[in-house]
Amino acid sequence: MGNVHRYYYEHQPWTPASWQECYKQTRFGEYTAERELTVIEELLDPGPDDVILDAGCGYGRVTERLLPQGAKVVGVDISRKMIAHCDRELQGDFAGAIADIARLPFCDGSFNKIVCAGVWSMWNLPSKWFESLLAS
Ligand SMILES: C[S@@+](CC[C@H](N)C(=O)[O-])C[C@H]1O[C@@H](n2cnc3c(N)ncnc32)[C@H](O)[C@@H]1O
Repeated sequence: MGNVHRYYYEHQPWTPASWQECYKQTRFGEYTAERELTVIEELLDPGPDDVILDAGCGYGRVTERLLPQGAKVVGVDISRKMIAHCDRELQGDFAGAIADIARLPFCDGSFNKIVCAGVWSMWNLPSKWFESLLAS
């Protein structure tokens, strides 16, 4: 990720509250967001033996669906505001880290499951991101 890109994400105008609002703006938005979470939950099938990376975790919308089943979840986001919100609000075995998905600060094989939902800059940098995610 270049410096301009990084600056944009570190100083992004959106906040945890504005994202939460965004999903609730229309009934269709609410419905699709809920469907997405159901599919993620089904695919990940989280349990107490899992150590899951939520890459680009935002305000913890996905993470908060994984924690009640006893999984340990590590949330990474490039936005300080999002990680501060997650650290404050999420209940369960959660650890947050401010980091760029293209350069994840974890040893290879640290996670047995990974989710990366709705992270738009992924479309600009697919190969770097996938290398970094797959190694983790
Ligand atoms: C649309 S939100 C989605 C959040 C969450 N995954 C969800 O589904 O609700 C996208 C998040 O990805 C983060 N993000 C974007 N590019 C990133 C990058 N290169 N590294 C880490 N986080 C990134 C943003 O800061 C933002 O919080």
